[in-house]
Amino acid sequence: MSPGLEFDEAMARGVEAIYRTPDVAGQRSVTLAAMALRPGERVLDIGIGPGLLAYDMALIVGEKGRVEGVDKSDPMIAVAENRCRDLAQCAFQNADATELPFDDASFDAIVSTQVYEYVADMSRALAEVARVLSPGGRVFVLDTDWDTAIWHTADVPRMRRVLDAWEGHLHDPRLPRTLGAKLEAAGLRVTRRDVIPLLNSSLHPNCYSHGMLAAIAGYVAGPGGLPQEEADAWLAEQRALGESGEYFFSINRYLFGATRV
Ligand SMILES: C[S@@+](CC[C@H](N)C(=O)[O-])C[C@H]1O[C@@H](n2cnc3c(N)ncnc32)[C@H](O)[C@@H]1O
Repeated sequence: MSPGLEFDEAMARGVEAIYRTPDVAGQRSVTLAAMALRPGERVLDIGIGPGLLAYDMALIVGEKGRVEGVDKSDPMIAVAENRCRDLAQCAFQNADATELPFDDASFDAIVSTQVYEYVADMSRALAEVARVLSPGGRVFVLDTDWDTAIWHTADVPRMRRVLDAWEGHLHDPRLPRTLGAKLEAAGLRVTRRDVIPLLNSSLHPNCYSHGMLAAIAGYVAGPGGLPQEEADAWLAEQRALGESGEYFFSINRYLFGATRV
């Protein structure tokens, strides 16, 4: 496995731009609808990233509610804090998903989107969720299965090499297929499983895969260990497909909801 992604300042800005696209905003809307938050609720966001979901949740729970967030990247927390600076119900801090700095039964709802695929010790991470969730509380987890990536190319072996190298930045690029059983093993009862497909049939700056092209090319030619020329050629082909109107990218996210019994 290759080294993980460094969520430094440049990466924090990159993630923020990609996560503001309508593609990812749509995924957030589905997540928010599933959470069905109510004013006054206490919510925890694990791996808060740029704070886009935290902002939306804070508006729903209101001033009498609370949105706590943890992330292990200070640059990410800085972006989230800036976004939510006028919302007194928000508080973010540096902590790992496997060691949550909260008392037992502190939250009515917990959410973690696109984070657990980076986490090695999932049984510990989910035990922490079960510990800090109130009895009857809800947890929502969204992750990607990278086997669902369909990316048009004339060079299938090169696309496979690029995606294999890219998967090295994650601990589990196929987490959704085992997530339900992992949640149940942690004492949480799974109440829903949803698939959220993402489709880009043209390449433009306001779509998810546009920003991902540069991120993937940069990673695979660096920590991913592929030759620079291979990453450049892969990127050039995708841009050419975008210009000729032949671009196609699709991937599935999976959203799980569970309750603490
Ligand atoms: C792809 S971003 C997703 C951000 C956010 N949840 C969202 O969906 O907008 C992944 C985030 O998870 C954080 N992260 C990764 N591993 C973590 C861990 N073990 N504990 C806490 N945060 C972690 C990263 O720093 C990064 O901010």
